[in-house]
Amino acid sequence: MTGTESAQASAPKIGPPLWLLAELTYRCPLQCPYCSNPLDYAQNDQELTTEQWVSVLRQGREMGAAQLGFSGGEPLVRQDLPELITEARQLGYYSNLITSGLGLTEDKVLAFRDAGLDHIQVSFQASDPELNNAVAGSRKAFEQKLAMARAVKDAGYPMVLNFVIHRHNIHQMTDIIDLCERLGADYVELATCQYYGWAFKNREGLMPSKAQLIKAEAEVNERRRMLSEAGSAMKLIFVTPDYYEERPKACMNGWGSLFLTVAPDGTALPCHSARLLPIEFPNVQSQSLQSIWYDSPGFNHYRGDSWMPEPCRSCDEKGKDFGGCRCQAYLLTGNADNADPVCSKSPEHDRILAARRAADHATAGLEDLSYRNPTNSRLFYRG
Ligand code: FES
Repeated sequence: MTGTESAQASAPKIGPPLWLLAELTYRCPLQCPYCSNPLDYAQNDQELTTEQWVSVLRQGREMGAAQLGFSGGEPLVRQDLPELITEARQLGYYSNLITSGLGLTEDKVLAFRDAGLDHIQVSFQASDPELNNAVAGSRKAFEQKLAMARAVKDAGYPMVLNFVIHRHNIHQMTDIIDLCERLGADYVELATCQYYGWAFKNREGLMPSKAQLIKAEAEVNERRRMLSEAGSAMKLIFVTPDYYEERPKACMNGWGSLFLTVAPDGTALPCHSARLLPIEFPNVQSQSLQSIWYDSPGFNHYRGDSWMPEPCRSCDEKGKDFGGCRCQAYLLTGNADNADPVCSKSPEHDRILAARRAADHATAGLEDLSYRNPTNSRLFYRG
C-alpha cells in the first residue's frame, strides 16, 4: 500500500480539493492596507515558472479540482497569464480572475475571454476617486477601475465588483451602490474587512464600530428592497465581519476539506493565510499535489476533531464550524489549536470584545495605517 493509499484508508472522509487558488505573484501596483498577503511578502520574491504552474493546474484537475482562481498580488503582472488561462480552459476548469484592474486593457479582456477565462472580478476601494486612490496608494486607480469594469461587461462577462469595507468607507454604502448601479454591475460584493495579514496589523484603524455596521447593513437592506421594486437584477452581497458574531465561521469549510492555495513560490496551503502559522507546509516543487493534499502533516494538522481542545472537543456545534478559523485563533491567542476567540464559548472571547470596544473609540486616520508596500514589508521583517 502506498503512503497515499494508506492515508486515504485511515481518513476516508478526505475528498478532493475542489477549489484551487493560484496566487501567481505577490507583486502588486497597489498598496491596500488590508491586503491578506503576508506582512513579510517582500522577502519572498520567488515565483513558480509557467511550466510549474501548468503542472500544478494539471495535477489539481486530475485530483478533481473544478474551480480555479487566479489571484495575487496582482495576477496581471504575470506575462504568462494568457497561457495559464488557455491551459485552464483546456483542462476544463471554471476559472476566475481576481484583479484590481490595474494593468488590464480592453484588448487583454478580449484576449482572456477568447482564451477561455470564465469570470472576472474587479476590486474597488471606495465610491469616489479621492478615497479610492488614497486607500489604494495609486493616483490613477479609480479611473482605470471604472474603465475596466465597463470593458469586462462590454466583453460579455457579468460585471462583478468587490468593495472591501472598513471604517473609512463604510459611510459610503449608499454611494457605492449608486456607483454600481450607474456602471450596470450584476454582482456587488460588499465585504467587510477580515483581519489577517495587513488588515490584522491595521485592525484598530480599519475595524468599523458596531453602530457603523448596523447602519451600513440597514442601508444595504433598504437598497435591496428598492432594487427589487425597480426590477433590477443587481445582486448585493454584504459580508459582515466575524468579529461581530457570537459563533465562528466554518473557515474554508474545514481545514484541508475543499480549498487548496498555492502561493507564488509554490508553497501549498489549506488557506491563503496559513503560512503565518508555525506549521511547515510543503512545496509543489518537491512534492506532488496528491501527496501534499492527502499525506502531508501540514494538510492533516487540523483535519477531523482529534486535535481540538475544550471547549470545542465536547461542543455540539463542532461539526458545523470545525472550531472556527485556525489563523484567527493563532493571531489572537498565539496558539492555533485554541478555539477561535470569535466564539462566545472561547475562554479568550474577551479579545474580541476588547477589539469591539477599541473600534468604538478608534481615531486613526488613513495616514496612520501601514500600507502594503515593499518598504513597510521590509520594516516588518527586519524589525
Ligand atoms: Fe486560515 Fe481561517 S484563514 S484557517
